[in-house]
Amino acid sequence: MENIKKTEIAEVYSSKNIAPDIYDIELISPEIASVSLPGQFVEIYPDNGVNILPRPISICEINKERGSLRIVFQKVGAGTTLFSRLKEKDTVRLMGPCGNGYPLSLCKDKHTLLVGGGIGVPPLLEAAKNIEGKKTIVLGYRTSPFLCEEFKKYGDVHVCTDDGSVGFHGNTVAFLEEKNIKGDIILSCGPKIMLKFLSEFAEKNNIDCYVSMEERMACGIGACVGCVVQVYENGEKTYKKVCKDGPVFNSKEVVWQ
Ligand SMILES: Cc1cc2nc3c(=O)[nH]c(=O)nc-3n(C[C@H](O)[C@H](O)[C@H](O)COP(=O)(O)OP(=O)(O)OC[C@H]3O[C@@H](n4cnc5c(N)ncnc54)[C@H](O)[C@@H]3O)c2cc1C
Ligand code: FES
Repeated sequence: MENIKKTEIAEVYSSKNIAPDIYDIELISPEIASVSLPGQFVEIYPDNGVNILPRPISICEINKERGSLRIVFQKVGAGTTLFSRLKEKDTVRLMGPCGNGYPLSLCKDKHTLLVGGGIGVPPLLEAAKNIEGKKTIVLGYRTSPFLCEEFKKYGDVHVCTDDGSVGFHGNTVAFLEEKNIKGDIILSCGPKIMLKFLSEFAEKNNIDCYVSMEERMACGIGACVGCVVQVYENGEKTYKKVCKDGPVFNSKEVVWQ
């Protein structure tokens, strides 16, 4: 059953710059927080009269007691620049929760690998908190890691950087291969190229793998087909909408190009 999305005016509880161009904002949004799940995202309206389309940002943490959602995002363009300027007590319009989220029930009593790349790391934090069982967490960055310390509360954390400045010198999939780390199930989010190689690694090692896909979105509610990915359904190639059918897909379902 599709979840009912709510629109809410959220108040900024806190706002921090945690790495170059990376911002960490907690938003008081009790109605959306009360029904949000790990791996879902919210649509945030820039509301400056110019950028009318909302921007999709993953939920990094859910605090049901405070009625808040945490988002961590990179400043890349007009919308995220406006969000980066939000200060305590400012308000912003949200719609959510959107999408399906991670299949956490499949991780129960299994060895779960959580694999994140760059700005794909944040949604794995709430997933890591909620998974019962052994967890190995592999986080990859170009340079300048963020959120790694917080993940340490929930499992064994391994950091990889493209430039070798911190941790393993190389990408997350190269790390899994080199260290011969295998698990029963993978949950991941990151650049498409990382997800493609991770999907091949999972297939080779017979591991179930779920990937959170990112496509440019317009409506965010399944009405415009702006965010489709090609998938296999009953052996045939077809399209699914990231905003409505995803963002999380079984990696075997995705047609990797
Ligand atoms: C389901 C989902 C969850 C996401 N979660 C996060 C998150 O937790 N943190 C985060 O920092 N970003 C996340 N993104 C990406 C984020 O939505 C875009 O960076 C944002 O919409 C850019 O808006 P803008 O107005 O700042 O940039 P624009 O001016 O619209 O674009 C600036 C640049 O960003 C690129 N861009 C825009 N939208 C996307 C997109 N959807 N995917 C990839 N590149 C894009 C453009 O190609 C361009 O180069 C997510 C995207 C999706 C689809
Ligand atoms: S963004 Fe319009 S259908 Fe997904």
